[in-house]
Amino acid sequence: MFKRIVDVVEVVAAACAVIFVVLLFIEKPPGTKAPAAGASTPQVTVETGTGGSAEATVPAISGAAVYASNCAQCHGADATGGIGPRLAGVVTKAFPDKRVQIIVVTQGTGAMPPFGGRLSAAEIKAVVDYTRSLK
Ligand code: HEC
Repeated sequence: MFKRIVDVVEVVAAACAVIFVVLLFIEKPPGTKAPAAGASTPQVTVETGTGGSAEATVPAISGAAVYASNCAQCHGADATGGIGPRLAGVVTKAFPDKRVQIIVVTQGTGAMPPFGGRLSAAEIKAVVDYTRSLK
């Protein structure tokens, strides 16, 4: 008799656990979607007017702006070289595979400092695209 009660309780507990898990999965999509939808609202804050010389660019991340504030002091304002080598017109030949150039900028090489800790992956990609666009 006692064992039977235990069996019944076990079955009920197992059923509750199953229902609980099922409810968790049913509840999850709307619960996780709400904050995700909120977070995905575009946040494009382009600040112009304070710097004066900065050109207003439409994309959220401007490779030219990243270059001007992080790379120009070594590679030259027009990327024709300085402390660091010329990049304009050179990088597409030096790095046929853009991913290699992204790794160089992220991890640095020799005297070239690593930017992985200072720039986001998107910023590094933007500045690499910018230097590859220069002739
Ligand atoms: C402190 C100076 C300095 C800064 C700042 C700097 N670089 Fe460099 N960079 C160098 C030097 C020096 C080299 C050459 C390194 C070597 O030959 O080992 C180099 C090499 C490179 C190369 C490889 C060029 C080649 O043909 O091999 C790339 C690409 C590059 N830099 C991109 C950038 C980008 C993009 C930024 C900005 C995010 C940047 N660098 C910022 C000094 C700098």
